[in-house]
Amino acid sequence: MTSAPLFPKGFLWGAATSAYQIEGSPLADGAAPSVWHRFAHTPGLVANGDTGDVACDHYRRFREDVALMKELGLTAYRFSVSWSRVLPEGTGPVNAKGLDFYRRLVDALREAGIVPLATLFHWDLPAALDDRGGWLNRDVARWFADYTRVVVRALDGVALWATLNEPWVVTHGGYLQGGLAPGHRNLFEAPLAAHNLLRAHAEGVRALKSEGTSPVGLVVNLEPKVPASRSPEDLAATARADAYMNRQFLDPVFLGRYPDELRDVFGEAWPEFPAADLDLLRTPFDFLGVNYYSRSVVRDDPSERPVRASRVRQEGALHTEMDWEVYAPGLFDILTWVTARYGRVPLYVTENGAAFSDPPSAGPDGILDPLRTGYLRDHLRAAGRALAAGVDLRGYFAWSFLDNFEWSHGFSKRFGLVHVDYATLRRTPKASGRFYAEVIRTGGASLDAAG
Ligand code: FCB
Repeated sequence: MTSAPLFPKGFLWGAATSAYQIEGSPLADGAAPSVWHRFAHTPGLVANGDTGDVACDHYRRFREDVALMKELGLTAYRFSVSWSRVLPEGTGPVNAKGLDFYRRLVDALREAGIVPLATLFHWDLPAALDDRGGWLNRDVARWFADYTRVVVRALDGVALWATLNEPWVVTHGGYLQGGLAPGHRNLFEAPLAAHNLLRAHAEGVRALKSEGTSPVGLVVNLEPKVPASRSPEDLAATARADAYMNRQFLDPVFLGRYPDELRDVFGEAWPEFPAADLDLLRTPFDFLGVNYYSRSVVRDDPSERPVRASRVRQEGALHTEMDWEVYAPGLFDILTWVTARYGRVPLYVTENGAAFSDPPSAGPDGILDPLRTGYLRDHLRAAGRALAAGVDLRGYFAWSFLDNFEWSHGFSKRFGLVHVDYATLRRTPKASGRFYAEVIRTGGASLDAAG
């Protein structure tokens, strides 16, 4: 029996990476440090003292990597541009050699028939801009728009643009909880950083629109928040957690307002924002990228600041090496939730994947990773169900194309479809990568039979 293909023709089948996580050579050819270079070079902040100095050496091996993408049949690839490669000071003079790297990458992708999706900011703010206040300085929106113009003019082969990756993680990890660059722990800074990220997104959209016609989007990480019980306390905690992680970023860009719960979450640290800013934040754009990894079952917990809510670990469920619950129906839930709340916005799953432990080197049988394969299979099926339910889903990008530098975890967490041996930098497609290749080849039909 053959069933109708779940995925329409032209659906993008991709994988994603980001600059600092894979490129290496962060200071080569005139590039200057980013906040992540500084963070990783501060002893004690990243597991095992790992840094992005070499990472996957993609900066020098990108042709080999594009050939591997082609071998796996990827039809799209999401990468990010390192701001401090292109503009070492963050503003001002352009580093032609840095820009050239991305030009060559985009050309190689085009030649291989792979659609390039470029993210302009995936966490590696130029250190020179951090010295000027970084995301706390209101001028950052203009700096970002100027940088956007430089990149867009140079890379006309990019088919889809994303402004920011996961503003929530930047503000929560970078300004409040401190585990990510630039490592601040300040309740009062977090909402200002979040607001300036969204202002930068909006100014970036305007810059892109004034330069050309490629669709432009925003990438957010979303997590369905599910109450642990029907108690009024747990229900209120769930609403706060949802407002903090999900609606803090989507309500302003689609509805022009912040969720009411944020006043309660931040207390006196919640500022009054100028009304004109909220008009700016609502600047129309073309698609939303959704990064989905897990859900969160939430209970009221006054000791957890600032949301006064904590996650209830689902004992008995499979968890990844990140201790994230594997919960594929959550992808369907979140895609249909976005569509119900904000309208039928064109969506891409811009990241989805799992860290499970693989050996450091591939043996004669390659890398057999049934847990990652199962994760992909179940999430791709959930994506298919979302399509069937009327979600305007246009593509799926697995995180990640390669094993890479997983931020504060260093190289200890492997998310790749392709294994990287960090001693030799040898690449080996994993069984999950081969599985995904077959899904792509059959336009999703092989998912029906896949166990
Ligand atoms: C996301 C990031 C990505 C990667 C995955 C595991 O939050 O966007 O760079 O670290 O998580």
